[in-house]
Amino acid sequence: MTTTTDNSRTLPLPPGNFGLPLIGETVEFLRDPDFIEKRQKKYGSIFKTRIFGADSIAIVGAEANRFILTNNQYFAVSWPPSTKILLGPNSLTLQEGSQHQSRRKLLSYAFQPKALAGYLPGMEKITQEYLQKWEKINTLTWYPELRNYTFDVASTLLISTESGSQTSLSKLFKDWCDGLFSIPLALPWTKFGRALRCRKELLAAIEKIVLSRQKEQEPGKDALGLMLQARDEEGNGFTLPELKDQVLLLLFAGHETLNSALGTFCLSLAKYPEVREKLRAEISQVVGNDSLTLEHFKQMTYLEMAIKEVLRIVPPVGGGFRKVVKSCEYNGYYIPEGWNVLYQIGRTHADESIYYQPEKFDPERFSPERSEDKKPFSYVPFGGGMRECLGKAFAQLVMKVFAVYLVRDYSWELLPEQNLELVTIPTPHPKDGLKVNLQHI
Ligand code: HEM
Repeated sequence: MTTTTDNSRTLPLPPGNFGLPLIGETVEFLRDPDFIEKRQKKYGSIFKTRIFGADSIAIVGAEANRFILTNNQYFAVSWPPSTKILLGPNSLTLQEGSQHQSRRKLLSYAFQPKALAGYLPGMEKITQEYLQKWEKINTLTWYPELRNYTFDVASTLLISTESGSQTSLSKLFKDWCDGLFSIPLALPWTKFGRALRCRKELLAAIEKIVLSRQKEQEPGKDALGLMLQARDEEGNGFTLPELKDQVLLLLFAGHETLNSALGTFCLSLAKYPEVREKLRAEISQVVGNDSLTLEHFKQMTYLEMAIKEVLRIVPPVGGGFRKVVKSCEYNGYYIPEGWNVLYQIGRTHADESIYYQPEKFDPERFSPERSEDKKPFSYVPFGGGMRECLGKAFAQLVMKVFAVYLVRDYSWELLPEQNLELVTIPTPHPKDGLKVNLQHI
């Protein structure tokens, strides 16, 4: 049972171990992809730990997700200090209450169906160019290539900077991302110190782009153009410092997560060729050799299930942090004010009481007959509640466009003797970067 009462302080704290003084279990949390799973086996679905300097409680399961993501009176946004500093004070992910609501509304103009339809031709063009390039290389390490691809998609469609992956922006982003979840020690040789320098350079580059766009007559059809025009009820738009932090956030959120998701798609379909064949048959029947329209996607139900399964089996974001702003109770345990709670996406998706053989890549678990995700908050790759991913529809569209062109026109095989074990920071990817042989069919 989940209740929220003022008498909760008489209840016990969840089991668990705080680890070392101050630093707690931060190092294990950052290094061990099975950190949560191991503790879940030892203590059960709720346990305490100390990470990023904060006493924290991790809670696993669909009910826990509902509890954390919908009880806004008890939980507020919270990110580790390194993430907070590197995202910046005007970042949507750090905003609260009415400010969050109004900024989220303004940003959402860039992700409405009309805007998405406008992005589609650009996505198709970049996808085809990359596939042709990879076809020529033939044998490739896919993950870094996919990173260039997702960065180009994001930089072209969000800020009209084509081939962003070939500019200094891309390298700056990589070093900035490496510091996002790190110990916030700003020394020249630490990950965090490097990332902080990159933030300054990234903001300077973004400022230049914004200022030049503000001078143009036509705002443009990319996300930045829509953001420049967006106004709240009082007629106010984004200020320059806001635009800089929000663009930084969108560029980051718009490519790192997708990089991981596309890598998982490529890996899963190499391991499960029968899924690839089924998908190919559907694409050939619905799209043939035509250019894509949003209408095509409505008819491709197997593609929908396959993409869903990719985000279930290896969710690019493993979970999220919240701060407890008012003490409460969960399943007979005390959740004290001032602590952090962590909701778990990856472990929920691996829950055997929800998903049959969760380790198996099986798109049909989402078919209307089986709908294994019917329990609310059992499928949460994009989080949930009022902070659900703003780029969800954009991300799904990129994944589908990529999937259609790749599966329709190409075949690929994993090269032998590579380490496919997942590294989880910044987003999950195979240790050796996914080495494949790709051929046109
Ligand atoms: C497969 C790709 C993606 C996944 C799995 C993903 C996942 C998530 C998750 C789990 C959250 C919620 C975090 C929390 O609860 O604290 C989130 C938030 C967010 N995502 Fe995504 N995301 C993806 C792609 C994108 C893209 C492409 C964009 C933008 C271009 C984007 C923009 C955002 C933003 C702005 C937020 C913050 C929302 C808020 O705080 O109100 N994401 N995402």
